[in-house]
Amino acid sequence: MMEEIVIKITGTGSALPEKRLTNFDLQEMVETSDEWIRERTGIAERRVAEEGENLASLAAKAAQRALEMAGRSAEEIDMILVATCSPDDMLPCCACQVQGLIGAKNATAFDINAACSGFLFGLQTAYAYLQTGMYKRALVIGAEVLSKLVDWTDRSTCVLFGDGAGAALLECSTGQKQFLGFVQGAIGEKGMVLSCARTRFVQMNGQEVYRFAVKQVPQCIEDVLEKTGLSIQDIDLFVLHQANVRIIEAVAKRLKVDIEKFPMNLSRVGNMSSATIPVLLDELNREGKLETGQKIVLSGFGAGLTYGACVLVW
Ligand code: UT7
Repeated sequence: MMEEIVIKITGTGSALPEKRLTNFDLQEMVETSDEWIRERTGIAERRVAEEGENLASLAAKAAQRALEMAGRSAEEIDMILVATCSPDDMLPCCACQVQGLIGAKNATAFDINAACSGFLFGLQTAYAYLQTGMYKRALVIGAEVLSKLVDWTDRSTCVLFGDGAGAALLECSTGQKQFLGFVQGAIGEKGMVLSCARTRFVQMNGQEVYRFAVKQVPQCIEDVLEKTGLSIQDIDLFVLHQANVRIIEAVAKRLKVDIEKFPMNLSRVGNMSSATIPVLLDELNREGKLETGQKIVLSGFGAGLTYGACVLVW
């Protein structure tokens, strides 16, 4: 009998630009304060891409680190998906640029734009391809250089975002299932509360996005748990999109889960949209904070409006 295809994350990687932009630096640029930014968002500093760094180079670096961890060469990869809403160019897409940079000449490559939920949408897309047996190894990358889409004179948005990239290598394997379930969705009719026209900057109704997040994230976590037959108490870690510490605290409260189960890195890196979840996952992985058998929920929300969640066993 054919053994069931089991899909596993065999490597993670991340890359951040060198340049740190602190709240104190921002105080020199717009009318704001370190106190306001910390209190309202939990962010103290973020990374910003400079000369010589761009979306594709960060994404490629994160991908190479994931490959190194898994002990795979770029030529063994069948598929590269880059989730991004801040591509360097309209064409070619970032995934094709990454394919060229790392020499993954056997891989198909395309981008996914689901904003801050993008990495989760990418994971599910790669999972579906691998599950059919069509491909064996897929790199899923969440990468953003939001600093170029931000109006640096608009204090209501420029303090929130950061640049960076995170990656996960998914491989067909055997044995224990790692991915237990996914949910994803969109509410297009509310899309204009967080938008960016092609030649403009990010515009956001922060309070509307906040309300959407604190309602939708707990809901989709409950939905994905129901699908998998697990309860909230079964989950060891909640790796959420790092947009705002108050949103994460509100989600923990609604779910009645100890905030200790919600690791955070946004004080150091800000909101990196589709890169937040894979960067945090990679940091936890490299710090040895992910233990075999732990049940982990990943969940994100963002422009679209989009939302998603996934349950996996590490
Ligand atoms: O990945 C998804 C991305 N989006 C989000 O996660 C956004 C979700 N929303 C939020 O996190 C919050 O709505 C924000 C952090 C964006 C804003 O916090 P808020 O508590 O909703 O503040 P607010 O927009 O109601 O603004 C309160 C005050 C206003 O002044 P007045 O009208 O009360 O005088 C703003 O003008 O704070 C002012 N303000 C600032 N003050 C200092 C707005 N931005 C700043 C700033 N520094 N950077």
